[in-house]
Amino acid sequence: MNESVFTSFPILQTERLDLVRHNKVHAADMFALRTDDDVMLFLDTHPPKSITDIENKIQENISNFDNKIGINWIIKIKESDEAIGYMGIWRVDKHNNRGEIGYAIKKEFWNKGIASEAARTIINYGFSQMELNTIMANTNPKNLASQSLLKKLGFVQEALFRQDYFFDGKYLDSAIYGLIKEDWKI
Ligand SMILES: CC(C)(COP(=O)(O)OP(=O)(O)OC[C@H]1O[C@@H](n2cnc3c(N)ncnc32)[C@H](O)[C@@H]1OP(=O)(O)O)[C@@H](O)C(=O)NCCC(=O)NCCS
Repeated sequence: MNESVFTSFPILQTERLDLVRHNKVHAADMFALRTDDDVMLFLDTHPPKSITDIENKIQENISNFDNKIGINWIIKIKESDEAIGYMGIWRVDKHNNRGEIGYAIKKEFWNKGIASEAARTIINYGFSQMELNTIMANTNPKNLASQSLLKKLGFVQEALFRQDYFFDGKYLDSAIYGLIKEDWKI
């Protein structure tokens, strides 16, 4: 992959959205996002208990960029300061030019095409600027919204890992989706 993308944080724009770097000013909005039970239903991770927890998560995202682990963007509606979600190619496998996409949007913004719009720009950036060859996603097989989004973008399910993820006292399955550069049509 092209590691020069990590030289300075790439702010991106779509028709309706600004995609910006994580910052502690987004802590209250990210806390609201990650303490909403409906948003968290299939994220299979514990919600933050405090603003300090979410600030640590934000710092992790900032450090992951600085350490060239991946890029995660805060999603904002243009002309607004509110952080309405995040999306990123948050982890990269440099040897295989493979990235993993992840995302969550505040519930009041669901079903307005926001995730599709952000994803098209981010995937385009992943293939053209990061020079990735494949982008994958790992989702709970019960997460229909996430799988609808992935299929709409052209991802195909490549695997179902059975009981590979232990969370909250249970073994969960993982549906693995993939998109290859030659199949990507913006
Ligand atoms: C997954 C998520 C990001 C989708 O965001 P969104 O902005 O509502 O998505 P879009 O509006 O771009 O919709 C994309 C497609 O998914 C479909 N979709 C959205 N929600 C759906 C649902 N609950 N069930 C089935 N399909 C759904 C839409 O209809 C659309 O397809 P269409 O254009 O053919 O109609 C959002 O539901 C979310 O934040 N969920 C909680 C966090 C999460 O689960 N993240 C994924 C972890 S792997």
